Amino acid sequence: MNIATQAAQIGLEWDTRTGAVTVPIYQTATFRHPGLGQSTGYDYSRSGNPTRQALEEGIARLDGAARGFAYSSGMAAITSLLLLFKQGDHIIVTEDLYGGTYRLFEKIFAQYGLSFTYVDTSDTAAVAAAIRPETKALFVESLTNPLLKVADIAALSQLCRKHGLLHIVDNTFLTPYLLRPLDLGADIAIYSASKYLAGHNDTVCGLVTVKDPQLAEQVYFHQNSAGAVLGPQDSWLTIRGMKTLSVRLDRQQENAKRIAEWLETHPKVKKVHYPGLESHPGHATLEREARGFGAMIAFEVTEPALVEQLLLKTRLISFAESLGGVETLITFPEVQTHADIDPEIRARLGINNVLLRLSVGIEDVEDLIADLAQAFEQ
Ligand SMILES: Cc1ncc(COP(=O)(O)O)c(C=O)c1O
Repeated sequence: MNIATQAAQIGLEWDTRTGAVTVPIYQTATFRHPGLGQSTGYDYSRSGNPTRQALEEGIARLDGAARGFAYSSGMAAITSLLLLFKQGDHIIVTEDLYGGTYRLFEKIFAQYGLSFTYVDTSDTAAVAAAIRPETKALFVESLTNPLLKVADIAALSQLCRKHGLLHIVDNTFLTPYLLRPLDLGADIAIYSASKYLAGHNDTVCGLVTVKDPQLAEQVYFHQNSAGAVLGPQDSWLTIRGMKTLSVRLDRQQENAKRIAEWLETHPKVKKVHYPGLESHPGHATLEREARGFGAMIAFEVTEPALVEQLLLKTRLISFAESLGGVETLITFPEVQTHADIDPEIRARLGINNVLLRLSVGIEDVEDLIADLAQAFEQ
């Protein structure tokens, strides 16, 4: 079944007693037992809650996974997954990844004896060269944050299989609607569902999908043991958002392409990073592996003073962190989302004082372009 159909119908058949079309919010911590040694299937909401389960089954279906898991944030999801590793394990990671993930790896998990090597995962040969005897996993962002580099998920999965590595894909920027990492051979997909999946900048949520049922059991054990689960109200909000994922993303991508093309011709723009442009180095990979290019754009302006001008003078477009919602947002990665990355690494990657990131929303594209145009002119 098409993902648009599956997403629209999440939770639809949950309440057979009343026939409610949306899954109820089971706002309960605990569940009555019908008898000694008996359970309804639910005992305590950290271990399982029906609203959360509807969301977990929904994301598992969208990704073609054995199981899905919902956490209180994207970072909680990544933290829980890292519990799969032990002291001495080495993980290869995308070099221009979300700053919060870098902070979690370097400032927290490095203390517990995990080590990380950061490479350009759009270069499969560079990933192969970084593999060591103690390497246990590859953690890639399918479309990187903020430079929108594209990883060849199928080629990387093959490499992982050959070397016995777990392949984890942070697919936040594309979502299962545009790319299904598990179909391409990855073992685990993770999502900051705070972004496109929930889609309305009104909730923070993390989702994980796992292909192998045995590995999924382990992930469940950690989810229940560490306990950073998503509450029933936020599970319901995330389901509500996911139902319109396909229509939102179709519109957002259409808008993003127009804006990227417009920015490319603007005299005060030096460079545009958008994989939907044929000039982008990852364009062909996404054409092969995905059904779209997403709605994130990074662009470099010709001088640093233009950064503050654009951030403060745009009227419709909000200066705010985060991405993927229906409203268009603009951010300055060097001092916001990527502030925790080593300045030397930032400089090498090109996360600099003229780079801005746009998360394109569903507004009318002519209004968005007019807003950028007037901000450039002030
Ligand atoms: C690619 C990516 N992964 C993970 C996260 C973390 O997710 P959350 O903010 O839901 O904890 C983010 C947040 O911006 C992100 O952009």
